Amino acid sequence: GAPVIADISALQEGQRLILEWRGQPIWIVKRSRAVLEALPTLDGHLRDPQSRNADQQPAYVLAANPELRSLKPEISVLVGLCTHLGCAPEMAAEIRPEPFDPEWKGGYFCPCHKSRFDMAGRVFQGVPAPTNLVVPPHHYADDNTIVVG
Ligand code: FES
Repeated sequence: GAPVIADISALQEGQRLILEWRGQPIWIVKRSRAVLEALPTLDGHLRDPQSRNADQQPAYVLAANPELRSLKPEISVLVGLCTHLGCAPEMAAEIRPEPFDPEWKGGYFCPCHKSRFDMAGRVFQGVPAPTNLVVPPHHYADDNTIVVG
């Protein structure tokens, strides 16, 4: 499929833009500073905090911001499909890291079988989804223009 272009100039903190690329929903989410600061504190709760599964994101994205899984720190680009059986997770664009379990404290939540992911799409331990959400191939054409594909 052809690449998809998104203008993110109007995207506000906590908002999600949804595109379609190759028949899949693509989420572009602007994260707050509080969320970015909370992400590293979640590592102990995550199945693959360092995103070592290379199938789940392009290497250049991981190299840019390893724990944020993004090229720009605040902007997360994800395929919006649960890595368990492909349902659409819901979003709560904040993270309240402590105490974490057993309740979901923000990030992405899959209603089908209760998999939880943080605001970098990293999967929590003890849920059915086996891997982090996928970061699709993408780049910035300019400061406010993302090209997915
Ligand atoms: Fe998301 Fe099963 S499809 S938890």
